[in-house]
Amino acid sequence: QQLLLGQTLAFSGDPLDRDWSDVTRHNSNGGVLVQDDRIIAVGNGDVLQRDYPQATVTHYGDALISAGFVDAHMHYPQTGIIASWGKQLIDWLNTYTFPEEARFGDKAYADGAAGRTLDLALAHGTTTLTSFCTIHPQSVDAFFEAAALRNMAVVAGKTCMDRNAPDALRDTAQSSYDDSKSLLARWHGKGRANYAITPRFSPTSTPEQLHALGALWAEYPDCLMQTHLSEQLPEIAWVRGLFPDARDYLDTYEECGLLGAKGLYGHAIHLEPREIERLQEVGAAVIHCPTSNTFIGSGLFDLMRLAQAGLRIGLATDTGGGSSFSMLRTMAAAYEIGQLRGVALHPAQLMWLATEGSARALHMEGQIGHLGAGAMADITILDLESTPAIAQRVNNANDVWDAVFPTIMMGDDRAIKDVWVAGRRVQRAN
Ligand code: GUN
Ligand code: ZN
Repeated sequence: QQLLLGQTLAFSGDPLDRDWSDVTRHNSNGGVLVQDDRIIAVGNGDVLQRDYPQATVTHYGDALISAGFVDAHMHYPQTGIIASWGKQLIDWLNTYTFPEEARFGDKAYADGAAGRTLDLALAHGTTTLTSFCTIHPQSVDAFFEAAALRNMAVVAGKTCMDRNAPDALRDTAQSSYDDSKSLLARWHGKGRANYAITPRFSPTSTPEQLHALGALWAEYPDCLMQTHLSEQLPEIAWVRGLFPDARDYLDTYEECGLLGAKGLYGHAIHLEPREIERLQEVGAAVIHCPTSNTFIGSGLFDLMRLAQAGLRIGLATDTGGGSSFSMLRTMAAAYEIGQLRGVALHPAQLMWLATEGSARALHMEGQIGHLGAGAMADITILDLESTPAIAQRVNNANDVWDAVFPTIMMGDDRAIKDVWVAGRRVQRAN
């Protein structure tokens, strides 16, 4: 048994739905008891130390012990082109993304990118990634193998595209079905791996491909399905041209069996009322990618409206459309977009989105992103005074939120004091 002592932050409910103070548990003298790969108790540090005297203690002082961050949407093959200048979505895909993704037919290249991405994630306190791969089955193997080496819970799938992409990056309706099916059989539920059926987005799939993947999802309804939805206005106009009979963008998925509770719809910025209604009715999740939305110039996600409509909402970096590997920076960007929408998200709401909210979007609530008994021991410890600028601000803090918010707004990987994955302390390079 391991006992982690420090300040603890945990949630007993959804702070976007209820008053954050009713569902937030902060303990300035807290403890987290870990046995094997799970958390078995969270409580008062002194009491846990008295009740479990044989546990090995790690003292984190005033640092904040949180559930590990859960990134609900990213592209590990884009790690090498993060922060590429000057383009909006469609040009950005053609100029930077597709040429880089074409390199992932080389398994060794994919292995390198997968390992590098997972290590960067851990260095930033992120213990679960939900990733698109490329059209190459090897790119999926590379990612799941690298995650298994690190014992990380991940979600990923083969990205499917059979039109409007370079020759080297196109599969077919049949091969995407066959390859996804065999990858799913190889990886889904193996260790901590979860397979997500992954049509990139409607513009790069024919209706035949979308139907084939919808049929596959119907055969494996237990799997997640991830894609993109209504990210940028020119993209939406393109979809309208490609699918003249569709009622709206979501309908291009709905019509093919690609709308469901286990669907993850990235971005979801420019939604029609019907789309919001249908996403809510089926219990689907939308994934907010705020650094990407400002970086690529997509628009302002309407978090409060979608939360009030009852949608599951996850938070994500969208690396490399997103401009940071850090979920702290991502929370800061979500706060800034909220401000532009006239809403000030509370630090408790931001921390919830980065942990519990994303876990719930992935239908893994209680398992990951949760600091509580029964959850996997994926834990991130935040140094709340990681830089001189943050430390001097925290000296003036009036309460815990006043001490946490500067790290959300100004923190980076230097704020990550320690990370535990499946009950083991991660040895990090930095
Ligand atoms: N829409 C389709 N593909 C992508 C992608 O790789 N990144 C982003 N941000 N949007 C997309
Ligand atoms: Zn994306």
